[in-house]
Amino acid sequence: MELKVSGITKSYRRGRNKEVRAVDDVSLEIATGELVSVNGPSGCGKTTLLLMAGGLMRPDGGEVLLGGRDLYSLSPEERDRERALRVGFVFQQFYLVPYLTVFENIVVPAAGSGRWSPDLGERALELIYRLNLGHRSDHKPGELSTGERQRVALARALVNKPGVLFADEPTGNLDDENAKIVLNHISGYARNGGAVLLVTHDRRIGDSAHRSFRMKEGKFLS
Ligand SMILES: Nc1ncnc2c1ncn2[C@@H]1O[C@H](COP(=O)(O)OP(=O)(O)O)[C@@H](O)[C@H]1O
Ligand SMILES: [Mg+2]
Repeated sequence: MELKVSGITKSYRRGRNKEVRAVDDVSLEIATGELVSVNGPSGCGKTTLLLMAGGLMRPDGGEVLLGGRDLYSLSPEERDRERALRVGFVFQQFYLVPYLTVFENIVVPAAGSGRWSPDLGERALELIYRLNLGHRSDHKPGELSTGERQRVALARALVNKPGVLFADEPTGNLDDENAKIVLNHISGYARNGGAVLLVTHDRRIGDSAHRSFRMKEGKFLS
């Protein structure tokens, strides 16, 4: 099992005494080769769930096993290392670096995570072409459309061939054509031995996922 999430919970404090239970006792498993989606309306807890599952935010309770290792029993340094080795993350807001080109945005974080390898540039270029960004390789994010930026964020997440890809609304701002390109690529990635957890309110995901969960007010509906 690539990813095993058991009973994770997270509350945020709101105001002085109120708490919002953003994720409430959620469990899921993803095997190699699988694309699992979590669908639900804005505010139901999808981003919170993804951040916890991807090792970026400690749950209040519950466990996350990534490739068999309990992420939150590791030291922060070990957890960072596990993430660098095994995790690709597509953030809802992309977080591209404005002064780097498309190519640089893809290779610089990958090289910096201690995973530089001689074929990094080659892999980046292959992703750039496969995601239809060939004409944009030397452009900076400010010169790109939203759909192009979204695809750069995906390429950056995939360039180190992570065991698990976490994708937050990866089709959120895309027209149908770009949504199709991104979804095809993500399902291809799963088919070729990756594992994907995708969270979205986009109904177009539909049949691309092997399994789907519906989420409402922090819980999975059965
Ligand atoms: N940092 C935060 N502080 C306080 N409340 C938050 C924070 N992040 C999210 N929330 C609240 O938690 C709930 C779930 O948010 P989120 O996980 O972003 O949902 P989604 O991604 O499904 O839109 C919402 O009620 C949201 O307002
Ligand atoms: Mg969200």
